[in-house]
Amino acid sequence: FHVDWDLVQAEKGGFDSFMLKEIFEQPQAIRDTIGSRIDLDEKKVVLPELKMSDAQLASYDRIYIIACGTSMHAGLVGKDVIEKLTRIPVEVAVASEFRYRDPIYTDKTLMIVISQSGETADTLAALREAKKSGVTVMAITNVVGSSVAREADEVLFTWAGPEVAVASTKAYTSQVAALYMFALYLSQIKGTQSAEQIAEIVDHLLELPGQISQILADADHVRQYAERIKDVTSLFFIGRSLDYAVSLEGSLKLKEISYIHSEAYAAGELKHGTLALIEEDVPVIALATQPDIYEKMVSNIVEVKARGAHVLGFAFAGDNDLIKTVDQVVYVPKTLPLLAPILTVIPLQLLAYYTSAARGLDVDKPRNLAKSVTVE
Ligand code: G6P
Repeated sequence: FHVDWDLVQAEKGGFDSFMLKEIFEQPQAIRDTIGSRIDLDEKKVVLPELKMSDAQLASYDRIYIIACGTSMHAGLVGKDVIEKLTRIPVEVAVASEFRYRDPIYTDKTLMIVISQSGETADTLAALREAKKSGVTVMAITNVVGSSVAREADEVLFTWAGPEVAVASTKAYTSQVAALYMFALYLSQIKGTQSAEQIAEIVDHLLELPGQISQILADADHVRQYAERIKDVTSLFFIGRSLDYAVSLEGSLKLKEISYIHSEAYAAGELKHGTLALIEEDVPVIALATQPDIYEKMVSNIVEVKARGAHVLGFAFAGDNDLIKTVDQVVYVPKTLPLLAPILTVIPLQLLAYYTSAARGLDVDKPRNLAKSVTVE
């Protein structure tokens, strides 16, 4: 008696690629990353893994977030969130640039490095440079025992589980979740948000895993749009503030596995050049979840529509206005605007996946790319 089975196929757990499996693991990854760090009775964040005192943490007046690729995009979300909640200035830089700069450090500088693998050469080099200068480094990483985890002064692990597909999905949302935890904790000890404000954010954080599941249940909607764009040569993502940070990730995801040229723009920047590329039927994906700049975002959408763009909008459920301006809308469940990135990125990951699959490409192993870049 002989049974043929394929180990790799078995590891995909019924999904046809690791990427799709990992996209669907996100509710659990978020639950695991935030679960142990939320005090449910007090409705606040606890970070028992931090070795430094609260007083030391509260003393930092400047934060650098250093990372590569998708991890850097998580850092961009983190920057906005940390600045909004704590009023501490945060600079995000790609590690390959930062390591060759002459960064301005003081004894009140904290560096956060973000790395799924914990082995990316440039990120590790930036960490080592900073440590040599006496700067405290906190790592956000997914791999226990990785170089970054071992060498950083402090570590916040993302509990996403192993990520195999080259295109990072669950690691990104877990990194963003870890950054929410950090920003909330910092605002608690600095007193920049009231206990009620913290509790409100915590309540909404706890809803995210269920909301991600809702989005995943509607994946077919995104698949239909993927059919529409699978043969285009170029497309654009636009958004403002947190929506812009997510647009960058949506664009990277699409280009890395579908090989379609795509660019993400801060919507207000379009008119300074890129608008020249918008012509009849060019797809534009427009994220509009941020209420404070919603009207401005709608004006930018009107500008691209006037040049003939076909616009897929992203909005919160309950927004009945965006559909009046765009051609189609993807709705994500309503949450606080601050938490929107974890939800809006899910349909963008699905879009990249379905587009790549529709083009018959190897979703898990895109050409020219590696999961972990351990050489410069
Ligand atoms: C590679 C991967 C990307 C990843 C980047 C940073 O380029 O293909 O998906 O975002 O490295 O990796 P890290 O492990 O440091 O997060």
